[in-house]
Amino acid sequence: MRYALERFITDIKDAIAATGKVPVDLIEITTPKPNIPADRTFVAFKAAKALRIDPAKLAAELAATIAPPPDSLIGEVTATGAFLNFSLHPQRLAVAVLNEIETAGEAYGTVADGAGRTVVIDYSSPNIAKRMHVGHIRSTIIGQALVHIFRALGYRVIGDNHLGDWGTQFGIILAAMQRYGRPQSEGEAAMAELEALYARYNAEMNNDSALEEEARRWSLALERGDPEARSLWQWCVDLSLRAAQRNYDRLGIRFDYAYGESFYEAMLPEVIEEALRSEAAFRDIDGAVVAELDKLPKFIIQRNDGGTVYMTRDIATIKFRLQTFNPSHIIYVVDARQELHFRQLFAIVRAMGYARDVELVHVPFGVITTSDGQPLSTKKGNMVYLEALLDDAVARARALVDAKSPDLSPEERATIAEAVGIGAVIYNDLYQDPRRNITLDWDRMLSIEGNSAAYLQYSHARCRSILRRAADEGVALAEADLTLLTHPSEQRLIRHLARLPEALREAGARYAPFVIADWCYTTAREFGIFFEQCPVLRAETPTLRAARLRLVAATANALRNGLALLGIRAPERM
Ligand code: ARG
Repeated sequence: MRYALERFITDIKDAIAATGKVPVDLIEITTPKPNIPADRTFVAFKAAKALRIDPAKLAAELAATIAPPPDSLIGEVTATGAFLNFSLHPQRLAVAVLNEIETAGEAYGTVADGAGRTVVIDYSSPNIAKRMHVGHIRSTIIGQALVHIFRALGYRVIGDNHLGDWGTQFGIILAAMQRYGRPQSEGEAAMAELEALYARYNAEMNNDSALEEEARRWSLALERGDPEARSLWQWCVDLSLRAAQRNYDRLGIRFDYAYGESFYEAMLPEVIEEALRSEAAFRDIDGAVVAELDKLPKFIIQRNDGGTVYMTRDIATIKFRLQTFNPSHIIYVVDARQELHFRQLFAIVRAMGYARDVELVHVPFGVITTSDGQPLSTKKGNMVYLEALLDDAVARARALVDAKSPDLSPEERATIAEAVGIGAVIYNDLYQDPRRNITLDWDRMLSIEGNSAAYLQYSHARCRSILRRAADEGVALAEADLTLLTHPSEQRLIRHLARLPEALREAGARYAPFVIADWCYTTAREFGIFFEQCPVLRAETPTLRAARLRLVAATANALRNGLALLGIRAPERM
């Protein structure tokens, strides 16, 4: 599908070309500065220079000659100095945009740029036997938004949860479960029990070398594939996955794979071998295999006792993903504190000659702080875990919904509160550059007036409520004359709705869900202005009323699609 704004640009190029005054390869169309009352501009300098004429003269001649065909999206054409400014034809724009939103429905905004290509997105990636902390929360939310964005861009998207399910700490976890017994609970409570078992064993082990020995034995047994160790480990992995899944379900997340670090164990000897053979790494004097590349600090891929590390498994993971999925991009959504790790990882796989035709991208993000800017920490006891965070958000949203909509059934209020509470947590993570830290400021997060999910959901619900009322009054939308939508606030809203595909492309190119969040926020604001300035149900004529209702319907549709890209639900009422 070619959207209105794309057609507008083609129309401009065709119209300039049709004058025969400018060679096609010199026709470049730009977006003018906001203070220029036009939608696109042809800047004549370059072409004029090539043609050896005065740029202002060329622009003026073009303005006088251009004759767009009657169905073109081009409205006014004016020359100001060397600038040839084009405005959208207001009536044709209204008809085109509203029709394309209605026709595309849920698919409005999607494009096919990525067709035939694959991206792998590595996100969430919690560690087994631990609660998901804020780093994983952010990764989960940002990663899922990128999954939606790249799917909407037409890519095949593989979401892979790179679980931290391997490493020497499992020796202690298994030994502790054997010694003190397995956790009895489920969900995050079970993860908290496992953390406590680990801490207790670790403390006792410091004074008792027999315990240390025991942990080492379990670690070795696990590595050798001993059935007992393996099954205890598997039990622990399953328990952790069930705990994580409860949160994923609430956030609407489904991974395509959760291979986890353990999956790559068998590939590690060959990876180390290849790193040495390609001279990307070398064996140092005490026997460890290390790499020192691109002036980055030296790092280990095999310890001198033969053990492997997180990095080794990440190298194997890239090899596996390239062989299995043949992706154009692999995107890692991981905490900014691992920036160096990824620079080293990307450097070594390039040096090994693996990753030639793939873009390796680390999308880093900042931390979460309390509303007064305090960092969260387990030691300070103000740590935030995902399950509790979601419960808290939903409880607060419930209070809001109960106050605002007491007439809805308790079931409906519960469903809305879930959507609003979860939406608040997601939006708080996505509305700004991910590198910035985020705060948990509930008043702001749940405000229905500020830049929050609740405000956007409320705007959507308001549109839906107007449409319900219109249906009750028996208004026939088919009567609409869309060419009547020429009020400045109607035109601004329509132009903005037309920009969703553009926002999607920018969000993908910058790995930046906040571009979509911005688009949603501006949609809600432009809608608010329109609604204040233009009576809808009380419009002067039936044809205008129906046209405005179709604009309301298109706004609801587009906003819902924008929110879906962020992973936020849009309830019908609030
Ligand atoms: N499990 C790791 C952690 O909690 C994050 C893994 C990120 N993904 C990766 N391929 N390294 O720190």
